[in-house]
Amino acid sequence: MEEKKDVLILAIESSCDETAAAVVKNGREVLSNVISSQIALHTLYGGVVPEIASRKHIEKINYVIQEALDQAHVTLEDLDAIGVTYGPGLVGALLVGVAEAKAIAYAAKLPLVGVHHIEGHISANYIENKELEPPFICLVVSGGHTHLVVVKDYGKYEIIGRTRDDAAGEAFDKVARAIGLGYPGGPKVDKLSKSGNPDAFDFPIAHIADAPFDFSYSGVKSAVLNQLNTAKMNGVEINSADVAASFQKAIIGSTVPKAIALCKEKNINKLAIAGGVASNSALREALQSACDKEGIQFCSPSPVMCTDNAAMIGAAAYYKYLNNEFSGLDLNAIPNLSL
Ligand code: KG4
Ligand code: ZN
Repeated sequence: MEEKKDVLILAIESSCDETAAAVVKNGREVLSNVISSQIALHTLYGGVVPEIASRKHIEKINYVIQEALDQAHVTLEDLDAIGVTYGPGLVGALLVGVAEAKAIAYAAKLPLVGVHHIEGHISANYIENKELEPPFICLVVSGGHTHLVVVKDYGKYEIIGRTRDDAAGEAFDKVARAIGLGYPGGPKVDKLSKSGNPDAFDFPIAHIADAPFDFSYSGVKSAVLNQLNTAKMNGVEINSADVAASFQKAIIGSTVPKAIALCKEKNINKLAIAGGVASNSALREALQSACDKEGIQFCSPSPVMCTDNAAMIGAAAYYKYLNNEFSGLDLNAIPNLSL
């Protein structure tokens, strides 16, 4: 019998502020995963400056790709396809990765696979949970998206719940700014919360009557800002670790019960998480213990696989490759691409 050939994919990710490239074997084995972060640069401005992000991607991308190939001990001739994020994200940032991927695909005569960024985040689960196969429920919590998704099959998604306003990561970043932690907010709130009391403040958890799986974060964000302003006006010192921990508790309260309820409603006993906020330690612990209680299998990529990286894009690209879902050399960046 002919032995099945390994599929090696070079994946590129440049949708926001990380320039990343990875070589992934058969969708689940990471041979290299190089990430050049621009965080230090954008911290100066308190958030991602799109024009600066695009320029930095251009400066870094060739080196990042070469490093990914070198670390994997492969050359372009060894590859089977090029995978690239083509949306959603910042259009100028996406274009750098897309143009680079098209140029390499054309020059090396390799097929091109355009990948949805959120499909990449979800597929990060396949890398470290080798046994994980659809169907499963995925809670997607990133800087731009908050979704509850039924992953019906590879590449087949049904979005059951979505945010009505801010994404969870946006709420983390705004609250972090308000308590003076700066950018990027999520990891700083996570760290500070460890020394705070989550019951110090009662921040509201939004429930949307006609859409039980939808999310809303503008209320909790305003509540935090009001609390801080009131304290300031009254000259009362406020413990920012308590604010951070209480805010985080509200985020957990708004996501964990919904994710568990959807598992029960769909009769699916596997729950995965995805996106930058999925690296939050308190959220991971809360999901793990809720899943343990309910007999649901909980899958979580390690924190570095939750935030933006190219290995996850390589995992998603592999399943598209198997389905012959290739992109033409006219692939364009689509900043508001839907899943
Ligand atoms: O998925 P991601 O890396 O980029 C997008 O696709 O948006 O998510 C970035 C978001 C940011 O809002 C960041 O503050 C948040 O993820 N984040 C966290 C943590 N690490 C990153 N939020 C809470 N806790 C963390 N440990
Ligand atoms: Zn992302």
